[in-house]
Amino acid sequence: MIVAGSPRLSVIAPTYREAANVPVLFERLKKVLADLDWELIVVDDDSPDGTADVAFALAREDRRIRCIRRVNRLGLAGAVIEGILSSSADFVAVIDADLQHDEKILPRLHQALVDGADLAIGVRVEDKNVEQGLSPARQRLSHAGAELFKRMSGLAVSDPMSGFFMVRRHIVAAIAPRLSPDGFKILADILLCAPPGIRIVEVPYVFRKRQAGQSKLSAVVGLDFLGLIAHHATAGLLPIRFALFATVGASGLVVHLAVLKILIGLYGASEFRAAQFVATLAAMTSNFLINNEVTYRENRYRGWRKILGLWAFMLVCSVGAIANIDIASWLYYQSQQVWWLAGISGALVGVVWNYAVSSAFVWRKRRASAARVAPSPASPPTLVS
Ligand code: GDD
Ligand code: MN
Repeated sequence: MIVAGSPRLSVIAPTYREAANVPVLFERLKKVLADLDWELIVVDDDSPDGTADVAFALAREDRRIRCIRRVNRLGLAGAVIEGILSSSADFVAVIDADLQHDEKILPRLHQALVDGADLAIGVRVEDKNVEQGLSPARQRLSHAGAELFKRMSGLAVSDPMSGFFMVRRHIVAAIAPRLSPDGFKILADILLCAPPGIRIVEVPYVFRKRQAGQSKLSAVVGLDFLGLIAHHATAGLLPIRFALFATVGASGLVVHLAVLKILIGLYGASEFRAAQFVATLAAMTSNFLINNEVTYRENRYRGWRKILGLWAFMLVCSVGAIANIDIASWLYYQSQQVWWLAGISGALVGVVWNYAVSSAFVWRKRRASAARVAPSPASPPTLVS
């Protein structure tokens, strides 16, 4: 029997509810990668539509596909990292399983690495003749994000939010412990952690419209990117999730002031108390909804349960607000009335409290599902001399 070593290229496809797309993706890869030695690694987060089973069924017929089924965990970046860490190939590529990325550029990404690049990025470009996969709002968000990224990192990459790239595996393996499994922006994270001087090549492609299933990321996910940047800007001191939570809090302030202004415009300043009350409720509700979609996406409330979550969040925030006011007032007198110092300290205590308690109670991690049948003890190893 001839035994071959691992393939030279592993293509990682993170999946959540992509049962219909995985077989199509595999067929397309067989065509475009026919000349290469490759494998497809599907990393599925136990999708309820049985994506993992579809991949396992394909794997029984063909060694070029394998599947990692992760249980009780969710998250695009974490799935990609685990897929890469399971590979022993020279090169690893990451591609969405929903067919929005144009797999036909994979050979060009591969060639770029063969020619000496460390990282080749699929960059989304516009093509007037093809129906666009990106809405104008999403394109603007993407551009603003890229611009910010350039300024912060000094790296001139045009699409740091791309989820389509190929990289030398050893580069990611070396920085893996520093990568953040939360969030979606795995490429941006790799770029920010990578050693200086890595050689980057960009290959353009047109982002396609999704055929089956639905997108799990919404435009609001740009916030996730800001969290990542804040995390790196503070040398890892600020957890991504906290940075996100604080950014959402700041957006709540804008909502608060806007509602207050409108209500006072409508009913006059005499109704200030009532207006302030309604504005507070509006800000808390919008903060809850955004945090639910972005900051704590993995544990988010769905359907009517959102009302439950909102109540819990409001309770937490009211305690946070009381702590904020008490501490600020105390400091105000202690510090010979330096109002801004007292105000900032109070707000900081409030946001840290809200964050800590929201993480622990409002969006606490789901407990592992029902007890599992204990595996039967393995048979004692037999020694072969
Ligand atoms: N394992 C796993 N776990 N996979 C996930 C998860 C998750 O929690 N969430 C999403 N995925 C998979 C999807 O099944 C799909 O294959 C891929 O990740 C991208 O998810 P989509 O829901 O299709 O994302 P999108 O089209 O909105 O996002 C695209 O643009 C982003 C930049 O704005 C993708 O290209 C992203 O990779 C990219 O970061
Ligand atoms: Mn998609």
